[in-house]
Amino acid sequence: MSSDDISTGDFDALAAATDAAMLIVTTADGEERGGCLVGFHSQSSIDPPRYSVWLSKANHTYRLALRTDHLVLHFLGEEHRELAELFGTRTGDDTDKFAGLATGTGPHGVPVLLDVPGRLVVRRLALLDEGGDHVCLTTEPVRVDGGAPHAPLRLSACCDFTPGHSNDERHSPPTERAAD
Ligand SMILES: Cc1cc2nc3c(=O)[nH]c(=O)nc-3n(C[C@H](O)[C@H](O)[C@H](O)COP(=O)(O)O)c2cc1C
Repeated sequence: MSSDDISTGDFDALAAATDAAMLIVTTADGEERGGCLVGFHSQSSIDPPRYSVWLSKANHTYRLALRTDHLVLHFLGEEHRELAELFGTRTGDDTDKFAGLATGTGPHGVPVLLDVPGRLVVRRLALLDEGGDHVCLTTEPVRVDGGAPHAPLRLSACCDFTPGHSNDERHSPPTERAAD
């Protein structure tokens, strides 16, 4: 059997039943800053502590994350729905989502959203691309700020957002030299 044999409706329903808490992942490569809303994430080791996030190959944030080691994971509360909508429906390919927001600067210039107190600063240790439309980044936490949100913002509160990039989009040209 393979994944071609499963009912995607059943799969989607089971996965959605976990009603994931939402994050905003930010990063910067020295020239550009970026960030997107993320529902695919989890602690992935206790000792040593590890945290994994999955970024869509379509996203500006993913392309930036390939060029740097550090990310900031912002753990959203219910009060952050508007911020989630901005980071989940607009793309850094044509917008600076940070303009007008209260921001600080974390390690290696990574932008920090000051309105979200619960944050993990992480360093990327490994990257797994097994051929799907999202890539796994396994990270080591290097700083913890604030505490967990009282009531996390959940996927079910964000179902009406239209992502800034759909998962099947690919950047073109794939590399800068390919444009020559
Ligand atoms: C509810 C929801 C969950 C999402 N989960 C993820 C995710 O886990 N990983 C990811 O890379 N993108 C995810 N996205 C998509 C990006 O947040 C969205 O396409 C964003 O606009 C991309 O911005 P960027 O191009 O600036 O990186 C999600 C979007 C929504 C609305």
